[in-house]
Amino acid sequence: MNDADSVRMKFADRGSPFAGERHLKQTLEERRAMNLINRKTFERPDEVRRHMLRMMAMGAIFATRPGAYADELVKTPAQTEGPFFPDKLPLDTDNDLLVINDSTSPSDGIVTWVTGRILDPTGQPVRNALVEIWQADAHGAYLHSGSDNGDKRDKRFQGYGRFLTGSDGTYGFRTIKPVPYPGRTPHIHYKITRGGKHLLTTQCYVKDHPGNAKDGVLRGITDKKQLESIMVDFRPLTGSKIGELAGRFDVVLGLTPEDA
Ligand SMILES: [Fe+2]
Repeated sequence: MNDADSVRMKFADRGSPFAGERHLKQTLEERRAMNLINRKTFERPDEVRRHMLRMMAMGAIFATRPGAYADELVKTPAQTEGPFFPDKLPLDTDNDLLVINDSTSPSDGIVTWVTGRILDPTGQPVRNALVEIWQADAHGAYLHSGSDNGDKRDKRFQGYGRFLTGSDGTYGFRTIKPVPYPGRTPHIHYKITRGGKHLLTTQCYVKDHPGNAKDGVLRGITDKKQLESIMVDFRPLTGSKIGELAGRFDVVLGLTPEDA
């Protein structure tokens, strides 16, 4: 893990959305924010950072296990963007959705780490992919002016985050376990772009959630392997004293490397 890798964990908005620049130095402000997160949410300093490193390392190990050949890769199915991509981006757009800027009050919901890799169709990692996620808060409200449950929206939840992949294609977010809202089973929205070019819009789901069978968007995917590829097995994070979960979602793009 080099410096460039470590700073990707705190990929912050500098007023040039989607420019895809990587910030090679954490600002004092970011360090202060991270320290506040650590004090409030975790017992030991740097626990956020160490958790993220551990989750990302696990992701890299699983992705390179023997037998993960390209012909076994299932392309991640494209799915609707839905109507609730934020109509106004939050003030903080980093990969920690639990806390906005230097707030000392984390959002409601079950703390959940989602990590994975962005891969091309041959299984090679895709570098400099901008991974954007957005999801409803613990009360089923999106960061969108037209969201259902808007009056109940958790203003402490960032609702949206982004992460720029490095050479190993790995990404990571700290967020909450997705919850159902009227008409939908729990899900997290993903959009992948590279150099401003759109590569994929999709969603991931909670494996074995009872709402999955009735979900209209999910029922639109008829290929069994594609369906399995978007199910995330959220499990208790080993050693967590606050009941955190962790899940892995690899994204396999359908484009050739030249296209990307
Ligand atoms: Fe949604």
